[in-house]
Amino acid sequence: MKVYKAHIIYTPRREEFHVLENGYVAVGRDGRVVCVGSSLEALGCPDAEVLDFGNRLLIPAMNDVHVHAAQYHNQGIAMDLELLPWLQNYTFPEESKFSDSSYAELIYRRFVENMKRVGTMRAVVFATIHTEGTRRLMNIFREAGMGALVGKVAMNRNCPDSLQEGVADYVSGMEQLVAESTEPDALVRPIVTPRFIPSCTPEMLRACSEVARRYNLPVQSHLSENLSEIELVRQLEPESQGYGDAYRRYGLFGDTPTVMAHCVWSDEAERRLIRDGGVMVAHCPTSNFNVASGMAPIRTYLDEGISVGLGSDISGGHDLSIFRMMVYAIQVSKMHYQRSNHEQPFLSLSEAFWMATKSGGSFFGKVGSFEEGYDFDALVIDDANLFPADYNILQRLERFIYVGDDRNIVHRFCRGKEVCLAE
Ligand code: GUN
Ligand code: FE
Repeated sequence: MKVYKAHIIYTPRREEFHVLENGYVAVGRDGRVVCVGSSLEALGCPDAEVLDFGNRLLIPAMNDVHVHAAQYHNQGIAMDLELLPWLQNYTFPEESKFSDSSYAELIYRRFVENMKRVGTMRAVVFATIHTEGTRRLMNIFREAGMGALVGKVAMNRNCPDSLQEGVADYVSGMEQLVAESTEPDALVRPIVTPRFIPSCTPEMLRACSEVARRYNLPVQSHLSENLSEIELVRQLEPESQGYGDAYRRYGLFGDTPTVMAHCVWSDEAERRLIRDGGVMVAHCPTSNFNVASGMAPIRTYLDEGISVGLGSDISGGHDLSIFRMMVYAIQVSKMHYQRSNHEQPFLSLSEAFWMATKSGGSFFGKVGSFEEGYDFDALVIDDANLFPADYNILQRLERFIYVGDDRNIVHRFCRGKEVCLAE
């Protein structure tokens, strides 16, 4: 067992922070939290050896529930189009390059290193259609000791030939990746990833559902992000009641754990399907701004009992930091607060933090909190350059979230093991 001492902050409930000033957390050999307490006696191990982080903050690590590793090279460029032309003009040409596995290796190594740097220890990731590139991305995450659900992307229509793959080849590629990921409770696993309805024929969507069911794999995709996209789906799926219903009819809406990115425009009926299917919404505020999609009504989702995590959605989003996603999520909710004549309360910091940690983390298992049995995924924050002496512990956390950066993150842990930056 290992015991760490620091100012410990986490959110067992979304309404409030739990703060242990000069607290202790005990972590078992399996990398899981045994207990937290305000003294070694309270932990029941008075003789334990303690690693003391002193005046630093110890918080759960970040979880990014929607990000495209293969769009890393486009991060921060190509902000002048809405979703559908943006995909055709910028995104698909970049993803086509991943047929070259050495290019994939180069970009994916940079991507994973930066994800590590910003304190994200778990991610739900889109790769591309290419099996070898996807395999390399999974191996890079494994090497780093980080957690990831990695999606070989299914696409067979409405995109360049170079980004289309036949259904049989898609299934066989997935079967290879599944066969290579048999370790129980592995940190890195495949996820079924139909890009979105416009990219997949009905046959492909059925194959995705079959692969998810047969190998008990989670599912990720995009939902109700942009109005032109929604109109296109209506034309492609005239028999469905809506976009979410189309996924549901193909068995891709909560049949296994499912996360859907964006949900900017989901109406009441779709929100009911999301809630009843236990589907997680990946809220990606910077992407929604950049691709001019709209503002997802996250307060409504939380009030309705829908589970929500935060996503960076590189490269629709320009910022890989989930700390910054908390800030943007709060700011979007303040726009809704104004538009609702102050009827819809905006998100609190604890709610945003909870979405980034315990709520988003729930997609990976018991991740995102320091309650007993949770994986010890943690960050140690040294905010000395932010003049901490003038502030209480929660003000220090808030200030770090708003104005700190990755240089303040001095240790990273994923399931109990320290994750180190490359030299
Ligand atoms: N919808 C389908 N593909 C994508 C993508 O790559 N990014 C975003 N933001 N939305 C999508
Ligand atoms: Fe996306």
